[in-house]
Amino acid sequence: MTNIIINGNQVNAEAGRPLVEILKENGFPITNLCYIDGLDPYAGCRTCVVEIEGAKPTSIQLSCTTNITEGMVVNTESNKTKEIRQSVMSFITTNHPDRCLTCHRRVHCQPGEICLRDDVVTHRCLTCAKNYRCELQTATELIDQGEWKEPWINEERTYYETTPPKPDRTNPFLEFDPQMCILCTRCVRACADIRHTGAISLAGKGFETKIAFGAGGQVHESNCDFCGACIDVCPTATLMEKPNKWNGLATDWTNSVCNGCSMNCTISYGISNNGEPVIVRPVSINKTSRDQICVRGRFGYSEINIQDRNFKPYERIGDKLVSKDLNTAVDSVAKKLKNAIKKYGPQSIGIIASPFSTNEDAAFLNFFATDIVKTNNLDYIDGENYRAIIDTWEGISKHKKLPADSINLDKSKLIIAIAPDLEESHQITSLRIKDAVTNNNATLILISPKWGELKPFAKSWIQIKPGDEAILLEELTQCLLKDTDTFISKLEYIEKTSLQDVFSILKKFKQDRNQQNESTDLAIVFAPPNYYVSNTKNILINQAEQIGNLATALINEQASNSILYLPNEANVVGLDDMNIRPIDDGLNFNEMIDGIGTGKIKCLIIHNDNPLIRASNKTKVKKALQQIETLIIIDSTINSASKIAHFLLPDSPFYMKEGTTTNTSSYIFKHNFNQSNLFKNENININMKNIMIKIAQKIIEKNKDLSYSSEQQIKKLNKNYSKYPNFISGNYRAINKENTSYRLSSISKKKMLSYNASNETSLLVAKTLFTSRELTSIGSLQSDALNRESKGMMNSIDASNLGVNDNEKIIISTKENKMELIVNVSDQIIKGTIFVPQYLNEGEILSFLNQNKNEINIIKSKN
Ligand code: SF4
Ligand code: SF4
Ligand code: SF4
Ligand code: SF4
Ligand code: FES
Repeated sequence: MTNIIINGNQVNAEAGRPLVEILKENGFPITNLCYIDGLDPYAGCRTCVVEIEGAKPTSIQLSCTTNITEGMVVNTESNKTKEIRQSVMSFITTNHPDRCLTCHRRVHCQPGEICLRDDVVTHRCLTCAKNYRCELQTATELIDQGEWKEPWINEERTYYETTPPKPDRTNPFLEFDPQMCILCTRCVRACADIRHTGAISLAGKGFETKIAFGAGGQVHESNCDFCGACIDVCPTATLMEKPNKWNGLATDWTNSVCNGCSMNCTISYGISNNGEPVIVRPVSINKTSRDQICVRGRFGYSEINIQDRNFKPYERIGDKLVSKDLNTAVDSVAKKLKNAIKKYGPQSIGIIASPFSTNEDAAFLNFFATDIVKTNNLDYIDGENYRAIIDTWEGISKHKKLPADSINLDKSKLIIAIAPDLEESHQITSLRIKDAVTNNNATLILISPKWGELKPFAKSWIQIKPGDEAILLEELTQCLLKDTDTFISKLEYIEKTSLQDVFSILKKFKQDRNQQNESTDLAIVFAPPNYYVSNTKNILINQAEQIGNLATALINEQASNSILYLPNEANVVGLDDMNIRPIDDGLNFNEMIDGIGTGKIKCLIIHNDNPLIRASNKTKVKKALQQIETLIIIDSTINSASKIAHFLLPDSPFYMKEGTTTNTSSYIFKHNFNQSNLFKNENININMKNIMIKIAQKIIEKNKDLSYSSEQQIKKLNKNYSKYPNFISGNYRAINKENTSYRLSSISKKKMLSYNASNETSLLVAKTLFTSRELTSIGSLQSDALNRESKGMMNSIDASNLGVNDNEKIIISTKENKMELIVNVSDQIIKGTIFVPQYLNEGEILSFLNQNKNEINIIKSKN
């Protein structure tokens, strides 16, 4: 650290850092319209000029290109710098609607008022969506631009003389209105340098220079993935979120978490006067996501209008769901449960919790199962698969959760990613891998059946059949142990040279590592899809076992630090921590579904999840749900499963819940949310816990007072949450000082479990980036609003064998089910595998999972 003087004040600053950042951090107002913190300066706007004593060749310097040196004396307030800033701002606004910007009356004008000065102007701040939250506006205020030679008097402003370029409003996420652009290029650099996407560029030259997406067409025709990083940095109204462009002026902000995947990026909701979220910004509490999120985090809240959510309880009468008042519904549900317990015993009741909800909700459902209903049948849809993996690791490390921390990912030197498409399933993990490759020279090995956006960053891509991953990992481990130079694999369909390249990379890494000893050098990122066609559990166990072996072969006792497992859904780790799993001999989710058929399960309570779009063997699941004696669904939407329920109880949407979620690296993040009045009813906040407590009170003896505290229940369930609820700055292993490097026992010699490998065409079913889970769940036609995920994908050799051309239909069928699918013919998917988006046609493909894949038939459709 070094001492500098700013405007006569002594400031302690780190030598070498950009002066502009130090000025902002220490509260010295400075305009900096083209600078992005942390990136190299562009030095295009010239609004950040300051005076630096003794600087050469002149004391006037740009604060974004000046780095801190010992004893530096800086003046940001001199008349000279102000004049320079005003003069460059005049150029910047020449081609921008500047009437309000330079008008002394602006602060008095409210939207809708008539301009007293110049009422012919149609474009100005007062009619702009960014009014009162615009950096360009604030910047002109900061430098008193209105004092600058009143440029509107007798002067032709270019902006008002030319026809403005047309806005692009054709996609559901991002509006691009180039007439507001000041060509600061922040968007270009954010997209290229922060997101590694490169969807925006500066096109044309001279007066024709403009910002262009892709080849200059509409935004959705480019490779933009609507992460919104460019929106966050745009200082004007040129790039804005479409859903909230005109109502994104927040009166308050509250921290929360995205529940789109197990990365749990931390976000902040801008809240309107009536308590509804109107805008999302990333916040850096999550040290992996930092100031970045993906399209799901930014726009998830706006998919379903808050007014369209479910605030009421319903009871099925005949074939109709009839709305009931809360007390009547509570009475009826409690009576049903009590009768079922009396008639069939508590084990006739099953409870399904949600990975899209909070630890507090999960802890309550555990309490409801164990203390109120006294059933052992407690689970969530993905539970069996998650436990297959962590139990395998427990077998080799004595710990279920390995200590790898995603915040170290971009510091890795070698990354092995075993995932169908991380860019789509866990975009921020994918972003940090791109950072590691781009900024840390890391080597990426991608093992996946399908091309993904990470491919251009990979040194080697092993295109593998779904399920065969463990075979390859085992072979790599064995060859590393034998210390041979040649790698031979029985996976003959994979090109030999690529395999040899991968083996050579691993071998060199192992040799080099023997001399160094950094535990974060290696990252094995494991994000399996939720399903394989059959034998999912065996495949996952094989993969977990072999990943442990490979990590041990590569870095020995620090192996466990390198394995980063990413469950698909958000709070899977938290659910497990809250003991959401079958108790003793209780039934898991699939056994509960089977139990409905055998008469064991008479009543199922499902919280905030929809098995009809998330569970495999959809036909069987649907049949079971239709046949069960009592189906109780608790959800903030009326989804396809609740349409066949006997009772539907309301819940608040995830973003309105108070509580915590736990991400894949065991970081616990807190949500703070005061509910909108819409979710108040008869003096209680409408949410699962409050309603179920009323039901619980009626189930237990009348004279016993039910006192329940989430905090106590959570502490009882998991000692790691001892610092709950303010536990947001470190993962629980580190805070509780648990041993953070677990030794994996040694290379396991277990024989791999059979997974019915087959030469028949297989399916790869995975979550895609844009299709909304909640909109799919309610059967909305808008679920894939961009229409990017409405097709499957088939390899060109398979397509030619069946005589299928690009964009033609195939039929996937079994004895019971039949599905038509339009396919793109592309070698981005491995031969012998058809890719189908999980949420396409309300999860239609789920009917084909969890059965013998040899029974699946694929032909060309005649339609
Ligand atoms: S972008 Fe900013 S400066 Fe430009 S018209 Fe809108 S509010 Fe005013
Ligand atoms: S939304 Fe993201 S991907 Fe699209 S242009 Fe902006 S930064 Fe690039
Ligand atoms: S679109 Fe926004 S960020 Fe991009 S150059 Fe224009 S004003 Fe700057
Ligand atoms: S990466 Fe995952 S947690 Fe982060 S914003 Fe995207 S979906 Fe949400
Ligand atoms: S911020 Fe320094 S030139 Fe733009």
